[in-house]
Amino acid sequence: MILDGRDPASVAAAAQALRAGELVGLPTETVYGLGADASNDAAVAKIYAAKGRPSNHPLIVHVADATGVDHYVREVPAFARQLMQAFWPGPLTLILPRRPAVGAAAAGGQDSIGLRCPSHPLAHALLLAARALGVHGVAAPSANKFGRVSPTTAAHVQGEFGDALLILDGGACEVGIESTIIDCTRGAPVLLRPGQITRAQVQAACGLHLLSKEELAAPAPRASGTLEAHYAPQAKVRLMDGRALQTALDVLGRDFDGGQATIAVYARSILRVPSSKVLYRRMPDDAAAAAQQLFAVLRDFDAQGVSLIWVEHLPDTSDWEGVRDRLQRAAAA
Ligand code: TXA
Ligand code: MG
Repeated sequence: MILDGRDPASVAAAAQALRAGELVGLPTETVYGLGADASNDAAVAKIYAAKGRPSNHPLIVHVADATGVDHYVREVPAFARQLMQAFWPGPLTLILPRRPAVGAAAAGGQDSIGLRCPSHPLAHALLLAARALGVHGVAAPSANKFGRVSPTTAAHVQGEFGDALLILDGGACEVGIESTIIDCTRGAPVLLRPGQITRAQVQAACGLHLLSKEELAAPAPRASGTLEAHYAPQAKVRLMDGRALQTALDVLGRDFDGGQATIAVYARSILRVPSSKVLYRRMPDDAAAAAQQLFAVLRDFDAQGVSLIWVEHLPDTSDWEGVRDRLQRAAAA
């Protein structure tokens, strides 16, 4: 059931549902989440069951503001505090040492916990209303089945989980890809998942070099958002440079009638498309705009029965890192 988020009664109903141990679909500025009371292990178990996600893959816990951190976290390193000050509320998740007594199920059994303070006004209103009912934080992975493309509208969430789920409609997500994740449990910040907030911004905010996962001696925990093959549409995704893409289209030729196979092209370059059987969509030149529409475009190609998606390689610059990461993993699936 989709509830209009502009109606305060919707927020109240969603907060009550969280308090009662039910799941709620909620908007954030990145993607929609599938939320539950992070301190209620039975409610958290419903998230894993609904998504079909292994229960040792940790979830992100959403808090209304930075004061919500102390409930879950033993100790906040100074650089993590600086990152909170610089980027919260916003699309940044921090992995911090967990207090042993709280959030074990949400943390997937890790001795750390991922926390994020979202900037979407409706997410903020819901977190405040839930806190007033005694819900300190809302565990919420992206509201999609395991391995699939994250949802960026309320309708996407309903398509994943059906009409029984209460979903707060907050419009289309502005960022469009999941939060940047920084591990703050290793003495220095480590980038676990790129997002809209770039390496350069993180380094400038805390004055430290941001390590990559590959630079770690001990591997980071296995987690869905970091699996090599993830974020996959039904169609097969292939990344190609613009020249190779044009050559492939020329080879298909004017007579191309894919039969069952329909090909979609998603590219920044202007290409000659030989046949109306090829769906062609221009990718925005701006990384933020491309991120905003990425998952909706992939879902739309799926809805049109496309079996192959040819995507033009993305610029190698840091502002494209989040989009590059998602498409590389979609292509690896
Ligand atoms: O933008 C987002 O972060 C969205 C919205 C809903 O807030 N949420 C999201 O959650 O993407 P999810 O569950 O799809 O991704 C959670 C990822 C895990 O796959 C893992 O990579 C990381 O967060 N994570 C969470 N807790 C962790 C922990 N204790 N240690 C290491 N990684 C953790
Ligand atoms: Mg996810």
